[in-house]
Amino acid sequence: MSSIEHIQKEFEEAVEKVRKSLSSESIQTLKVKYLGKKGKISGLMRSMGSISPEERPVFGKAINKLRDLANDSLQNIQDLLQHQEIEKSTSYSSLDPSLPGHRIPTGAIHPLNRVKEDIFSFFTGLGFEIERGREIETDWYNFEALNIPPEHPARDMQDTFYIDDKVVLRTQTSNNQIHVMESRKPPLRIIAPGFVYRADSDASHAPMFQQVEGLVVDKDISFAQLKGTLYIWVRHMFGFDVKLRFRPSFFPFTEPSAEMDVSCSLCKGKGCRVCSQTGWLEIGGCGCVDPNVFQKAGIDAEEYTGFAFGFGIDRITMIKYGIPEIGLLTANDNRFLRQF
Ligand code: DAH
Repeated sequence: MSSIEHIQKEFEEAVEKVRKSLSSESIQTLKVKYLGKKGKISGLMRSMGSISPEERPVFGKAINKLRDLANDSLQNIQDLLQHQEIEKSTSYSSLDPSLPGHRIPTGAIHPLNRVKEDIFSFFTGLGFEIERGREIETDWYNFEALNIPPEHPARDMQDTFYIDDKVVLRTQTSNNQIHVMESRKPPLRIIAPGFVYRADSDASHAPMFQQVEGLVVDKDISFAQLKGTLYIWVRHMFGFDVKLRFRPSFFPFTEPSAEMDVSCSLCKGKGCRVCSQTGWLEIGGCGCVDPNVFQKAGIDAEEYTGFAFGFGIDRITMIKYGIPEIGLLTANDNRFLRQF
């Protein structure tokens, strides 16, 4: 029994020493020295054989108690060491794991792109193809081939940026109508999105904005089909209760021509500041392709008819989301963009 007490005392002193200069090596050494296969406590177990049968149970109990105590003490200093290491690693660095984290901002699709993608998927679903044209364009494609000769008053409607006498920044995506009709044979069903430029700037006009042009050319295409196509499109874009109105108008490249208005989504057609008390918002122009345009683009106007339309993507976006100023769409202001 005295050897058990002796080993316990020795072990307790050794633990105190290791506790003062904590390291994983010293803990390991201590463990091997007392609890290892050839360790002192294990040695006590082995010496059981030389003990008289009467004494054995008491002796065995005492050894087990010592073994448990040693295990507990070692676990204890092991935990202490781990705790110290965590404290050390955090106190030397600027990292404070108890502080709340930084939110990583996630991106979102820009409202203009959201509307554009919606337009693409809607029209491609109807069998339209997407065509992209030039932004720097000759006078011919932007004006003359669209039945707008020099000196035509319609040129004044579009404040053109001229690069030189014959080259402009396109004022409308209608230029794509001519490129497509020149290079492909009917039947044609295309939409042509893209940037257009006009020397104009106020709350609802920007010098650079985006339009989508639509063109359908085939045998027996009529104004009724134009109306039907655009009607399902505005319902898709603005909801089922929206009303669509075709107002007779004039565009040199379509005959007859119309302007399209949708009922104001803000006041539901009752009249408000956004729709200038009219209950309607203009979204674009449309009409049946003028035979003169067919002739200039090399398509037989006796055989084919067609319809065309064009609207501003920025304007559609403003109406859809109730955005009061076109400039907000390109200002890159996160406070604004985060709302979508
Ligand atoms: N290009 C016209 C504009 O920018 C819009 C337009 C009107 C396009 C009638 C068309 C159309 O295709 O048929 O104001």
